[in-house]
Amino acid sequence: MKPAILVTGGTGYIGSHTVVELQKAGYPVVIIDNLSNSNREVLDGIERITGIRPEFVEADCTDLTAVKILFDTYPDIKGIINFAASKAVGESMQKPLLYYRNNLNTLMNLLDMMGKHDVKGIVFSSSCTVYGEPDVNPVTEESPIKKATSPYGNTKQISEEIITDVINAGAPFKSVLLRYFNPVGAHPSAEIGELPNGVPQNLVPFLTQAAMGIRKELSVFGNDYNTPDGSCIRDYIDVVDLAKAHVIAVERMLEDKSDEKVEIFNLGTGNGMSVLGLINAFERATGVKVPHKIAPRRAGDIEKVWANPERANNVLGWVASTPIEETLRNAWTWQCKLRERGVM
Ligand code: UD1
Repeated sequence: MKPAILVTGGTGYIGSHTVVELQKAGYPVVIIDNLSNSNREVLDGIERITGIRPEFVEADCTDLTAVKILFDTYPDIKGIINFAASKAVGESMQKPLLYYRNNLNTLMNLLDMMGKHDVKGIVFSSSCTVYGEPDVNPVTEESPIKKATSPYGNTKQISEEIITDVINAGAPFKSVLLRYFNPVGAHPSAEIGELPNGVPQNLVPFLTQAAMGIRKELSVFGNDYNTPDGSCIRDYIDVVDLAKAHVIAVERMLEDKSDEKVEIFNLGTGNGMSVLGLINAFERATGVKVPHKIAPRRAGDIEKVWANPERANNVLGWVASTPIEETLRNAWTWQCKLRERGVM
């Protein structure tokens, strides 16, 4: 029997896909989530895919007492994957304290309890936002960390520092910091996917809702950037590929495969794609038109960023292999499923 893994934020978008991959790899999973940006039905979706219902604790990780009770209840937890966090860049500009409190208190509570409960390691959801607007693409893990442009981005930078400081001070566990580029898509079964509250801020959920007619049209934020077609460039990575990297990272810590106590990996495809290119890819992959218009630039957007994923490829033996067309087809199938279920 493999040791149990605690997945904080496990009913969320990336969390739920990771729970599926952990269960498929034989890990018992305990989820803690306050359902602030997800719902209980995600557990049904996970169970339909894997045949296993994960243990679920509805609680807030900023509540130290709740986290203590959780570790007392599940003494077999040996690894943590921490997804629980607020993640909307715009909202973080309006409510910085909410972001600092949620994201940092959650992490500190977990680190505090790990030492006391013999937990071997924590995988942390970081972001390419730590590189800001890079001087050179693709970015490697050694590319300079730029001053964060939002409280959200700052919580990712500070969290990386907190983990590193705690471990350098002698904490008896390891950490893998995973810097995600732009996760998109849904599970191919369409049992789980991304379900943003309200009007989506991110590109792909807005795009699929526009294609469905839920939104009048997608605004392409800027076509006057210094890129081949004038729209911004990102590295869009399939959410299931991303989820699989977490299983490898957890295993690496639990099985002590590395001498390093803190490791950092970029998780991206290595390919930059423009917003207009992504719309084209979606239309090609699904045969469905995306009503869209060119709109002004969005404040705070980076012009272009994509990953050099060689360290993850070589050290973890992990590659983001799903073609973008397949990823976008999965996103569309998920959107159609939401319509079928009457969700939207
Ligand atoms: C942002 C954050 C990233 C965070 C992620 C999670 C920054 C620089 N990036 O990524 O750290 O992890 O959100 O939510 O802080 N776009 C449109 N129309 C839309 C929506 C988006 O054209 O309606 C464009 C954007 O201008 C951008 C691209 O699509 O060029 C991707 O945007 P989005 O999905 O919001 O992600 P990021 O801003 O890259």
